Amino acid sequence: MSSHESGRKLIAVIPGDGVGTEVITQAVRVLDVYKKKCALPLDLWHLDLGADRFLRDGTTFPNEVANRIACEASAVLLGALGDPRVPALDYARDILFGLRLGLDLYANVRPVIALHDRLVPLKGKAKEDVQFVVFRENTEGSYSGIGGQFKRGTPDEIAINEDVNTRKGVERLIVAGFEYAKKKGHAVVHLADKSNAMRHAHELWLRTFFEVAARYPGIEAKHLYIDALCLLLVRDPAQFRVIVTNNLFGDIVTDLGAALQGGLGMAASANLHACDPERVAMFEPVHGSAPSLAGKDEANPFASVLTVGMMLSHLGYTGEDSRLEGIVARAVSEGRCTRDVGGSLGTHASGDFIVGELERSLDARVATLFQRAD
Ligand code: IPM
Ligand code: MN
Repeated sequence: MSSHESGRKLIAVIPGDGVGTEVITQAVRVLDVYKKKCALPLDLWHLDLGADRFLRDGTTFPNEVANRIACEASAVLLGALGDPRVPALDYARDILFGLRLGLDLYANVRPVIALHDRLVPLKGKAKEDVQFVVFRENTEGSYSGIGGQFKRGTPDEIAINEDVNTRKGVERLIVAGFEYAKKKGHAVVHLADKSNAMRHAHELWLRTFFEVAARYPGIEAKHLYIDALCLLLVRDPAQFRVIVTNNLFGDIVTDLGAALQGGLGMAASANLHACDPERVAMFEPVHGSAPSLAGKDEANPFASVLTVGMMLSHLGYTGEDSRLEGIVARAVSEGRCTRDVGGSLGTHASGDFIVGELERSLDARVATLFQRAD
């Protein structure tokens, strides 16, 4: 539970780098519409963190900020991190992993939902064929940071990154996937691992998966090796509803997923401590800072708009994810979108369309409420 002013929700906003600032500007416009039209009690706390700040004064992710987020915020809205001026990217890892690991946001939930037939690049497939969600373990695996380099820069160099898989970490992520499937009424959950080669770490995934599955008798549990999953995602994605997997495979497979749903400009995500909905959560588009697009008003803001939908729904405003999905789908269908998804608008102008439609939709909702009250 956050200790922010009672009844109000504090949202930490970190636009970050590159196109992150442009897409988060549009996301904030969407939140402003909700504040104006529905008086949502959201207080936005804009944080100047990212490459510019790091280059200015060396700040990456201060402890005071991390502590205030943990104690007071209800959610974090993050744009993107990464800047060619800072090739080492340590500042970006400090912020991103400071949030994911620091807040123990173990479930990275990445919907791969195509909102329009035109967005699906597979021959003969339509949006109905691309309707699944990836649950990516978000706090361990190859991202643990454990490892090192030895004899660096010599011909005998050794580089090690450990793949850390704990029973607790694996189980809670798998449980999150099954709980989601149960809530949504999905009949099947897939595990993707590489237990044929990674026989220690991924055997733990395999064993835990079927143990957890036994607690959900109405849901079929199916196992695939990650390479086979990649093949099937392209050949026949319609069979998937929920996929649970480790940190690295989840990262990779959700870029493949993004391609199936219209590109990275359409892919939203939530980072949750899934077993406790009261805990602060973090929301970010799947795409990166895209330095080559930055500052040109070309980036697609829809991933961030959809991410706001996930955030609102998590904060208890259920149905707002579907409302925003519907509006984004209409924008795509009418070509009121950026070039990557078949339109000719800039970032801001496609945000204008979303804001206008959202205002209309919320006005209509308020009108219906008043009619009912009459
Ligand atoms: C993502 C990104 C990050 C990740 C990078 C920036 C470390 O690719 O969120 O998908 O690998 O998790
Ligand atoms: Mn990624």
